[in-house]
Amino acid sequence: MSGRATSVITVATLALLAGCTKPSARDAGAAPSPGSAAPAPSAKHAEAPRAPSAPTFTPPPQSAIPGGPFGDAVRQGRAIFTDTPTYARAYVGNVLSCNNCHLDAGRLPSSAPLWGAWGMYPKYRKKNGHVNTFAERLQGCFRYSMNGTAPPLGSPELVALQAYARWMSEGAPVGVKLAGAGYPREDFRPPEPPDYARGEAVFKAKCALCHGADGQGQQAGGRYVFPPLWGPRSFNWGAGMHELHKAAAFIKANMPFSRGGTLSDQEAWDVALFMDSHERPQDPRFTGDVAETRAKYHDTPMSLYGTEVHGHVLGSPSAE
Ligand code: HEC
Ligand code: HEC
Repeated sequence: MSGRATSVITVATLALLAGCTKPSARDAGAAPSPGSAAPAPSAKHAEAPRAPSAPTFTPPPQSAIPGGPFGDAVRQGRAIFTDTPTYARAYVGNVLSCNNCHLDAGRLPSSAPLWGAWGMYPKYRKKNGHVNTFAERLQGCFRYSMNGTAPPLGSPELVALQAYARWMSEGAPVGVKLAGAGYPREDFRPPEPPDYARGEAVFKAKCALCHGADGQGQQAGGRYVFPPLWGPRSFNWGAGMHELHKAAAFIKANMPFSRGGTLSDQEAWDVALFMDSHERPQDPRFTGDVAETRAKYHDTPMSLYGTEVHGHVLGSPSAE
């Protein structure tokens, strides 16, 4: 019973979202605009203040992976990235693979590609309140997105993933935010507050075909070809994808699969709200009390953890 009755917010809080300035939940990771390294805006547009355009980068093709021990590590990292339950089994607690959310084996712009991340670490993260190395960032995705446990620093799995990211970033400018890095969520706001019923309609029309009417994904030959969006085999309540602004930005840019950019902004936010209004594995930082866990780690309108949806308090242990 603990934490059920107290400090429950409703989706009405999401009204705060529409037209708001910067959501407080914004990851501290959003990089400052590149300074001197970026080209100056052209004189023609000088009167209108514009962000200088970010440098672009194209990662090398897979065929360019070298031979030798380094190439072996890169290939191992790629195998882990594209089939995580097989190649990093000990550290995975669901059926997802890294490339379910970082598409084209971590290469695709606007799906948090590895080459957009590599040169930005170490960096401060608000999520854990300290400067994170790249390896520690990888550990975070294992713990939350993979609902698993973090491979130890220096483990073969983390070394291979770092080798893969470093190889893919060969020639990329370091320390500047590249075009296509992260999910495109700068100033991505819903025109109207996101709505569950509208989101459900989008889900049925544009997502259920692949992810299943129950959102549990689909298997073929014992492998998940379409990953689950919620439920016991999906990412947990600590994962970035459970936050509405990250889910909406990912969905807008990348879903329906191979038809990214076809949903309206409103549809992307609505379906993100619908997806993240369903139960999933507990936040590993759970204190034993939903309201307390919300206050400590989810105190933002971007998280539905601890809120009541159709009479059920999301994250309550009774649901597991
Ligand atoms: C359920 C979706 C999901 C899965 C699965 C997932 N990630 Fe992530 N990952 C995210 C989200 C969301 C972010 C944050 C992106 C943002 O803030 O724009 C992220 C961020 C990252 C970053 C930092 C990106 C940056 O630009 O700073 C790295 C590196 C990363 N993930 C690696 C991995 C690896 C390796 C795996 C597999 C072990 C993995 N991820 C699995 C969703 C996922
Ligand atoms: C044509 C099939 C298809 C459709 C339609 C589709 N998806 Fe996906 N979705 C995929 C595939 C395949 C992946 C994994 C991508 C990969 O591994 O390369 C994925 C990955 C995802 C992920 C990240 C992984 C996870 O399980 O959380 C989310 C979130 C997602 N889709 C949401 C949606 C939403 C919302 C819609 C509807 C707007 C949608 N998808 C429509 C095929 C589809």
